[in-house]
Amino acid sequence: MVVSTISPSPVLTQDDLKKLAAYKAVDYVESGMVLGLGTGSTAYYAVNRIGELLKQGKLNNIIGIPTSKRTEEQALSLGIPLSDLDTHPVLDLAIDGADEVDAYLNLVKGRGGSLLREKMVEGACRKFVVIVDESKMVKSLGGSGLAMPVEVVPFCWNFTATRLQNLFREAGCVVKLRVADGGGKPYLTDNANYIVDLYFKGDIGDLKVASDEITRLAGVVEHGMFIDMATTVIIAGECGVTVKNK
Ligand code: 5RP
Repeated sequence: MVVSTISPSPVLTQDDLKKLAAYKAVDYVESGMVLGLGTGSTAYYAVNRIGELLKQGKLNNIIGIPTSKRTEEQALSLGIPLSDLDTHPVLDLAIDGADEVDAYLNLVKGRGGSLLREKMVEGACRKFVVIVDESKMVKSLGGSGLAMPVEVVPFCWNFTATRLQNLFREAGCVVKLRVADGGGKPYLTDNANYIVDLYFKGDIGDLKVASDEITRLAGVVEHGMFIDMATTVIIAGECGVTVKNK
C-alpha cells in the first residue's frame, strides 16, 4: 500500500474537509472518461466540481453514470451528460464517499440509502476513488456501533430482518427498519426496497464470510460492506490530505 500526505491545513470545518477530499479526487478525472458519480454530502462536492470544470471547458466529453436519483438530478442541473450501465458496462473511474473505511480500504456504505446502485456502478469501474474526512476512518467495520445498512425486499421484511439478526447473534446484532424522514413510514430506496440497519456490539468477524452469509439470505437485495472495491481512498483531515492506494 502506497501512502502519501500533502500539505497541512489550518482549522477547517467538516464540510471544508469533504470539499478538500472531493476536489483532490476530481484531479483524477480526464476528458473523455466515463465516470461513476457517487451519492452523499461528500460526493456532492465532487459532482459540483466536475460540472464546474465542464462549464469552464477544462474537461470535455465526460459521461456520468449516477448512483442515485438525487445525484442524477444534481448532474442534470449541472449539464453533465449521463448514461447507464447497460450502455457503458465498464467505467474509467468512480468517485464516492463512504460511512466507514478500515485500514485495508474496505468500506461501509449506504447510510445515505444508495448502496445497491453504488455497488453496481462502482463494481464496474477500473478505478474507484473514495473520498472521506478523517472521522470515517475506523479500526473495524461495524465496530463503531453505527449502522451497517442492508437493502431488503419489502415482502416479509421482518422475516428477513430476524434472519439477519440470528446470523450475527454472537456479535450482539440488533436490526432496525429504517424509517423515512418525518414519519413512521419505511424509508424507500430508489429501487422501491426497504433498508434494515444492523447494529453490532461485538466483532463482525471475517468480512468476506459475513458478506457471503448476508448475500445468501433470500429477501436480501444487497448489503453495505464494500470489500476489496476501493482502489484509492482520499482522507482529508486537520493535518492535510492523505492518499492511500491499494
Ligand atoms: C450513500 C453513501 C454515502 O457515500 C455515504 O453515506 C457517505 O455520505 P456522506 O458523504 O454524506 O457522509 O454510501 O448511500
